[in-house]
Amino acid sequence: MLRVRKFFAVFFVGVLVIVILACSANDVDEEVVEENNDLIVVGFSQPGAESAWRVALTDSVKEAFSEENGYKLFYKDGQSKQDNQIRDIRTFIQQGVDYIILCPIVETGWDTVLEEAKQAGIPVIVCDRNVTADNSLYKAFVGSNFTAEGDAAIKYLESKYAADENGQEPEVNIVHIQGTLGSSAQLGRTQALEEALGTHDNWHLIAQECGEFTKAKSRELMSDILKTVSAEDIDVLYCENDEEALGAIQALNDAHVSYGDEITIISFDGSRNALELCKKGEINLVVECNPLQGPYLYSIISMLNAGEGAPKITYIDEKYFTPEDLTEDFIESRKY
Ligand code: AHR
Repeated sequence: MLRVRKFFAVFFVGVLVIVILACSANDVDEEVVEENNDLIVVGFSQPGAESAWRVALTDSVKEAFSEENGYKLFYKDGQSKQDNQIRDIRTFIQQGVDYIILCPIVETGWDTVLEEAKQAGIPVIVCDRNVTADNSLYKAFVGSNFTAEGDAAIKYLESKYAADENGQEPEVNIVHIQGTLGSSAQLGRTQALEEALGTHDNWHLIAQECGEFTKAKSRELMSDILKTVSAEDIDVLYCENDEEALGAIQALNDAHVSYGDEITIISFDGSRNALELCKKGEINLVVECNPLQGPYLYSIISMLNAGEGAPKITYIDEKYFTPEDLTEDFIESRKY
């Protein structure tokens, strides 16, 4: 009997603690919105922190939407899961934020939650990657043109592997490490390569794996690929971001495989680490993907807040780099 009473006592205290914690967590959120009612409140949903690039994007948004600039930013990291991002957006809706910035992990599956934000009267700005949802469900898109990035890489490969003076085209074997499947960054960069494979009979895809935009996964994949494909047969390594290129290069180093001259390495982003390797000729081409999107978002939200129309689509300015384009000063001055 005593044991049963003790059990119930512990059980009720446990429940009480959970209820108090849950209430105080809500109170804190509501308080923050209340306390800052002179500030514009923005909820910012990121898919994760898989790359230096994404950390730079987060920092750029945090810098733009600072309290000094008149904003209160609620930041949520989705831990690489779409379900978490959907839950985070619902939290922002409950909190009654003024705007939501969504960097979607993949393109599909957002219609319902975007409709909920619309019903709540909260404008959503889609950032970095795009969504396939009806465009009446969000106010604006700011981000990269990923197919144009892929096309820049293909142009480089076409000129490097052009036919010789006798019209003889070289055979080109390509290893392709893809980013998170279904993300705009993967879809655009993959589309450019796959279209080129369709028009160049002499280009051959000898391996294609998904590296999830991370260094660790790509290193693992590349070392597995080297178990089944001879390094001498690889002409091009097309990695869909810098982290993947850095991971694959570690695997090549582990296996004592030379690259740069022997294997052409293509990467996307333009982080300092990748540009260092590019300057040394170890990565042949880095197509820039610019994460410094905070100022673009700031100007769009300022326009919306002033009751002005904002451009529906804004593509960020981006360049590409080969070893001869790079200087140490330029790389040093890079923010990411
Ligand atoms: O969506 C942009 C891509 O996502 C960047 O290329 C990559 O580094 C990031 O994780």
